[in-house]
Amino acid sequence: MIKKNKNLFAKLEQQIDDILHKKVSILNRLQNICKLLKEHAMYYDWVGFYFVDGENPNQLILGPFEGAPTEHTRIPFGQGVCGQVAEDGRARIVQDIEQEENYLSCSIDVKSEIVEPIFKKGKFIGEIDIDSHTIAAFSVEDEVFLKMIAEKVSGRL
Ligand code: SME
Repeated sequence: MIKKNKNLFAKLEQQIDDILHKKVSILNRLQNICKLLKEHAMYYDWVGFYFVDGENPNQLILGPFEGAPTEHTRIPFGQGVCGQVAEDGRARIVQDIEQEENYLSCSIDVKSEIVEPIFKKGKFIGEIDIDSHTIAAFSVEDEVFLKMIAEKVSGRL
């Protein structure tokens, strides 16, 4: 398992606060959060947001992301790790994607994944998805960190 650097998470939290308070569009802010996380957490190889499609409430649409382009720009609830989180609102860590039966592959390089739901007034509205090229990259520390980000993002939407 990758050893987590608490100082890095604390520093990134501060920078995320700064980004979220910039007077630019929300999409721009989310893009900058993806960029920041991908650049500074070395095992975060793909960082993106999915949001519930307003016109198709049982589907997720890909929002801002950093990393390799993905074919999964729309994900029905229930499909893949992202769709499962959308369905029951529970965060998921997949330590080895080869062991996950309900999985949508983005790239052969991806070995593990974490997905954190975003809620607004108690309603599921989207999620943060992170892929790693390292097996078992994510732990409860990442989950706590991403939950904090999800709450901060929700507060600015
Ligand atoms: N692996 C995800 C699909 C999204 S990509 O990771 C960007 C899943 O199984 O839902």
